[in-house]
Amino acid sequence: MKKKTILDLHKMKKEGEKIAWITAYDFPTASFAEQAEMDMILVGDSLGMVVLGYSGTVPVTMQDCISHSQAVRRGAPNTFVIGDMPFGSYQTSVSEAQKNAIRFLKEADVDAIKLEGGRRVTDKIKAISDAGIVVFGHIGLTPQSSGQLGGFKAQGRTVDSARELIKDAIAVEEVGALAILLEAIPPELTEFISQKLSIPVYSIGAGLECDGQLIICGDMLGQFEAFSPKFVKKYANLAEIIKTAFREYVSDVKGKKFPEKKHSYPIKDSLDDFKKLFEEFKN
Ligand code: KIV
Repeated sequence: MKKKTILDLHKMKKEGEKIAWITAYDFPTASFAEQAEMDMILVGDSLGMVVLGYSGTVPVTMQDCISHSQAVRRGAPNTFVIGDMPFGSYQTSVSEAQKNAIRFLKEADVDAIKLEGGRRVTDKIKAISDAGIVVFGHIGLTPQSSGQLGGFKAQGRTVDSARELIKDAIAVEEVGALAILLEAIPPELTEFISQKLSIPVYSIGAGLECDGQLIICGDMLGQFEAFSPKFVKKYANLAEIIKTAFREYVSDVKGKKFPEKKHSYPIKDSLDDFKKLFEEFKN
């Protein structure tokens, strides 16, 4: 499969072709995604919860995101990969935001970066975009500011809150973002924003009427057990499959059922010769 560019993503919006987008944080998952012809991969800071065991995304560092993005790139060399800017990597100043975005491209070879927020981060989006980097915006439920939002809560459900999100979406496009992700907002609002903007508009928990869908791999594979948002569709139950396999292994080891003869390396000389060898070392 030929690797997509931002121009392909814009063309797909124009032609009404939907994008299938998933998160991945490691080599095997990225490789499976590429083999399944996934259009894009996000190395989300959700890695903090899904693979590092934090209760939120706030502790995730730039180095975490870079290391996981490098593994993803190795697994999916021909897929459009977006690196997620973690909390603290872009909020403090425009130059810090630009520096970290540049680091992402140089060290992890991502095709784009994503950062959370609307009007309050437009100066950062502009600076990163002015550096020649493809920026994805992200508004609605923004996990890094879930403290201010009062938790992982859907947004834009009232006219007042929807108005703010429309203004955010327009501002993000105006300063140079080349795509935007809407998280956990009503489908009516998503449909409006995706018709209003000329850049591709993607959804995670924001309905069908836009240019594509993102899903978190740990959620859709049934691997992340802490909680499951309303918008998740589970396509597999890996947690159960893995736990069953682990239990079986424990029981096999304790019951001396593993390893079997077929899992061992046979000797090449005679058993008698081996016995003589063991005798030599007995005392
Ligand atoms: O980190 C992530 O996976 C994300 C999604 C929640 C949109 O940003």
